[in-house]
Amino acid sequence: MTKCKVIALANQKGGTAKTTTTLNLGIGLAHQGRKVLLVDADPQGDLTTALGWINADSLPITLETQMKKILQDEPFVYNEGILHHEEGVDIIPTNIELSGMEISLVNAMSREQTLKLYLSDLKKDYDYILIDCMPSLG
Ligand SMILES: Nc1ncnc2c1ncn2[C@@H]1O[C@H](COP(=O)(O)OP(=O)(O)OP(=O)(O)O)[C@@H](O)[C@H]1O
Ligand SMILES: [Mg+2]
Repeated sequence: MTKCKVIALANQKGGTAKTTTTLNLGIGLAHQGRKVLLVDADPQGDLTTALGWINADSLPITLETQMKKILQDEPFVYNEGILHHEEGVDIIPTNIELSGMEISLVNAMSREQTLKLYLSDLKKDYDYILIDCMPSLG
């Protein structure tokens, strides 16, 4: 049984410190020796940028490319494309391409389970998975 805790930092309103909290909570936990994965689930990509990946548009593997593979039933490596930051946290990066994901998900079977399915394999590698959500109810 995995002991990993998955926490979504979510609020419908913009600018309410979701990204700031994800980043600082994650790095704080990492400094306490926990294995932490941050997931940038906001197409604005603020978390990815904040950790120093300023050219996120050129990253070959992102949350969007991985979720697309799941939706299209393509083979994928569950821990591929994870970036490692010197502060001790890992991150699944994102760029603006994620903005098309909600549309791709509309007709998908079990669409509400797609992210959960992706993270289920990753849970065995981490103590905490923190998801930085976008400012919407999506
Ligand atoms: N404790 C705080 N006190 C004052 N300002 C803060 C605090 N935490 C965050 N901020 C500021 O609030 C602003 C918004 O923070 P942040 O980007 O984390 O919000 P967000 O909820 O992720 O926004 P978005 O909805 O656009 O994703 C930033 O300028 C940040 O520096
Ligand atoms: Mg944010």
